[in-house]
Amino acid sequence: MPSIRATDSSVIDDVLVIGFSKSSGGSKKSPQFNLHSGDLKVDVSSLLEALDDLGASGAADEVIKLPGRASKLIVLTGLGQAPSNNRFAHETLRRAAGAAARNLAGHSSATFALPHSNLEEFAAISEGALLGAYAFDEFRGTSKADRKSPLGKISIYSKSAKKNEYAESLRRSEIIAKYTFIVRDLINTPPSHLTPDSFTQRFKKLAAGSGVKVEILNDTQLRKLGYGGIIGVGQGSANPPRLLHLSYTPKKKNVKRYALVGKGITFDTGGLALKPAQGMEAMKSDMSGAAAVSAAALAIAELGLPIAIDAWAPLAENMVSDTATRPSDIITIYGGKTVEVLNPDAEGRLVLADAMMKAAEVGKKAGGLDGLVDVATLTGAQVVALGTRTSAVMTNNQEFSDTFLKIAQSTGEQFWPMPLPEELRASLDSPVADIANIGDRMGGMLVAGLFLKEFVAPELPWLHLDIAGPAYNDAKPHGYTPVGGTGVALRTLVALAESMASR
Ligand code: BES
Ligand code: MN
Ligand code: ZN
Repeated sequence: MPSIRATDSSVIDDVLVIGFSKSSGGSKKSPQFNLHSGDLKVDVSSLLEALDDLGASGAADEVIKLPGRASKLIVLTGLGQAPSNNRFAHETLRRAAGAAARNLAGHSSATFALPHSNLEEFAAISEGALLGAYAFDEFRGTSKADRKSPLGKISIYSKSAKKNEYAESLRRSEIIAKYTFIVRDLINTPPSHLTPDSFTQRFKKLAAGSGVKVEILNDTQLRKLGYGGIIGVGQGSANPPRLLHLSYTPKKKNVKRYALVGKGITFDTGGLALKPAQGMEAMKSDMSGAAAVSAAALAIAELGLPIAIDAWAPLAENMVSDTATRPSDIITIYGGKTVEVLNPDAEGRLVLADAMMKAAEVGKKAGGLDGLVDVATLTGAQVVALGTRTSAVMTNNQEFSDTFLKIAQSTGEQFWPMPLPEELRASLDSPVADIANIGDRMGGMLVAGLFLKEFVAPELPWLHLDIAGPAYNDAKPHGYTPVGGTGVALRTLVALAESMASR
């Protein structure tokens, strides 16, 4: 991870990043640009002509490098159309800083002079710059030497650089970036190297010394204790399933308590409902929810937030073999509900059901849960409905959902509310068990949500986040988002904890 600091010194790096926007006055033939270098006064008016000559547009994700004078390199990062008051949205700043950082791989340091007039805007810039400076080269062999390492040192130029709260905010951004990178790394790690067991071992190491308690149930224990969902999904694999539990209890007493549950399928072949070969490789990302909630618990602990968090990661590999679950098999979820497994590719809901039941039980014993959030790459229908950059939120508690959506707006992660229509529930009826694991194909994301709803008490405020599309970017990089694992949901989970802790 790059290092970061704030600076108000006029001595700047070899690389200077500033923003630019298209001004509304220009035409397509002769666009006009505005430069935005925040608190740093730089005389770069000569650049405007160069931008014109280069045919620049000033759009988001456009990054232009020009030779400079005071610094060796001036990097212009597109901010799109400037708002009339010149106050750019947080996410615009975050993305522009990220796009610049991403394009500066191979450079050792850069100063970011981007417009901001308060702490939140400053935080968005630092967060974006850090999040953009990511690479995953762990598995390169002979091609490793040719790879440029990510930008090493980030300086954020601000006249408030010396203020305490700005330093505090940098610490937060570093924690966010550190754990986002951990989530991305885990998603990008191939299933040959990330099994349910190795997933738990990684978090055991990460949690050491953090004050976060780690509990791991192995397959023998899971079978004995009645976790039929996790066992059923994992029974076709040579890599046995696990249940990981991270619990963080702050020093402060009488705090709120939330449970976070994340889908942890280290690889989803579809089981006996085998997925087509094309695109199956993306199913290494089917543990994104588990990675997000586990890393969020560690981030919340490292921030020392006055809130209790239990993160649960039911981990299994959904494979094809003579021991795999057959369509029509019936399994018993933790707590006693039986499920007819009509489609072994609808496996996420089965492992989540076990973990959600356990999370509520443990939460109750600890004095009661204030809420439960599950995070899952659950359905292809989510991607069809909302695309690859917007996650879905479903709930049994409107107020909780509204609060969450509001918080998500500040983090820049895109979420959208989806309903859980009662009339779809009947499609999950089974002629032989309490419920089937698939229902109507139409509205498949909502049907999956309705299945999960059966495993939460109605009085427990619950959110279901389907991140199937946004968890994994198999298209081009953009803003601070690389190709591969994105780390989505972590930032909003941390922000949710911050917000709930302070109410
Ligand atoms: N892991 C998949 C969902 C998924 C699809 C995630 C695309 C990311 C990108 C999930 O386990 C799955 O296979 N869901 C099925 C459910 C169906 C059988 C009811 C699906 O969406 O097709
Ligand atoms: Mn599946
Ligand atoms: Zn899956």
